Amino acid sequence: MAFYDIIIVGSGIAALTAADKLAMDRNVIIFTKSNKTASNSFQAQGGIAAAVDADDRWEDHFQDTLVAGCQHNDTENLQTLIQSGPGQLAELVKSGLEFDLNADGTWNLGREGGHLKRRILHAQGDGTGKALVTFMLEKVKNKVTIIENEAVVDLIVENNQCVGVTTKNCNGDVMNQIADSTILATGGCGELFLYTSNDRTVTGDGVAMAYRAGAELADMEFIQFHPTLLYNGIRTLGLISEAVRGEGARLIDQDGQFIMEGVHELKDLAPRDIVARTIFTKINKGSRVYLDITKVTNFSSRFPTIYQLCVKNGIDVERGLLPVIPGAHFMIGGVRAGRDGRTSMDGLYAVGEVACTGVHGANRIASNSLLEGIVFGNMTAEAILTREREAAIRKSYSVKKGNQLIKLPTKQSIKQRMMHHVGVVRNEADLLAMKDWLETFDFFQVNLTNLSFSEIEIVNMLTTAWLITTSALMRRESRGTHYRLDYPLLNGRETREEIIRIQLEYEEIK
Ligand code: SIN
Repeated sequence: MAFYDIIIVGSGIAALTAADKLAMDRNVIIFTKSNKTASNSFQAQGGIAAAVDADDRWEDHFQDTLVAGCQHNDTENLQTLIQSGPGQLAELVKSGLEFDLNADGTWNLGREGGHLKRRILHAQGDGTGKALVTFMLEKVKNKVTIIENEAVVDLIVENNQCVGVTTKNCNGDVMNQIADSTILATGGCGELFLYTSNDRTVTGDGVAMAYRAGAELADMEFIQFHPTLLYNGIRTLGLISEAVRGEGARLIDQDGQFIMEGVHELKDLAPRDIVARTIFTKINKGSRVYLDITKVTNFSSRFPTIYQLCVKNGIDVERGLLPVIPGAHFMIGGVRAGRDGRTSMDGLYAVGEVACTGVHGANRIASNSLLEGIVFGNMTAEAILTREREAAIRKSYSVKKGNQLIKLPTKQSIKQRMMHHVGVVRNEADLLAMKDWLETFDFFQVNLTNLSFSEIEIVNMLTTAWLITTSALMRRESRGTHYRLDYPLLNGRETREEIIRIQLEYEEIK
């Protein structure tokens, strides 16, 4: 048994931001089940959106986010996020983080889907996440203990208060770790899907353990599929940032036709859900889809990570046609949390992708997620530092005896089924089939301490898959990333009368 002020689960940007601030006045320990750079934050290519340009205003960034999010956004949290962004980025710059600049010293701003203006800051071209996480790891060095290769198995709850976590290390040792505050910053769940841009460690662990502990979740049906993952016809090979389209790349089918022509006024830079569905439909009809990069100047120096990804996988970059397919990218729902990270459970906080603060609505606009990690990571730390201490009772909690699970599917079978049944385009029959299949496994109410790392991940994947599937069945409309063939598409700007008309027309067509 060990005691800490603060336990943080995960090592992405939200975790490191909170840890850095908390370490001023508290002892902080981070547990991460793999190594500290195995996160989606580290892999982020796009950048950080903020209205820092003289021609930009926070209101414009706010409005673009609402439109992309189909008005499902929590507007108070969103306003805080967007208004705080430029100031917090300035703080990072002051402490030494370098964003890419133009020759005249002004911000080199990129553009991505849904943004009407250039407002994406990036560092080292398409290596923003790596630059940011490396910078933050350096900042927390000697202040925060980071334990790698030790998985948090479950939260410890006493009278609806989270008092810490149970961990398992790679020697199989199981320990209870007690803390006054526990922050979940475990990221999303991209590994649940066959095609994904996510790090392979991202298996929905935070959501699954919060659910087992009884914390409130929200919006689990909204999974964002990124339109352009590099694809070799069998599997996805990594992300091709939307920023590439921001610099002039266009999506074409195998006949060389621009596929976003006539679909949306922003064409290739339409909100992500619209582009992903258009590509998905083309591919489903038997066409291949390519990102034509022939008009992008200085591709290899502006996008060094993507260039290397292509070279490594034998894609002929000089030809200028990168084969793409949509894949799971971001979990919009998650553990319901305020902008100060507070969840429905005392002592438990959630921040970053695992949290659902409502800022992304039904479809996250590009490059708002690193921003969320930074802004709400700081706010969570501030809230914990300024609030009267909610001390966990520092007693000895017994380690629960684990179950021996008898039957678990392979990860691959979960991933294939989720992609097929709960993917870019959904319908009731597929969702019900998925739910029925998931329920043939016994993953509710299990105690995981006896299981291997991989088995723990499978239980978490089953749990999160079930939460997404059942939520998708419950939302009887199509909105943003949640697109059901059996319900009409709404963008949140319709009047009541328009919704009734759309529904009637839809019923007639059906
Ligand atoms: C991208 O670079 O296309 C992804 C950026 C993001 O998901 O915010």
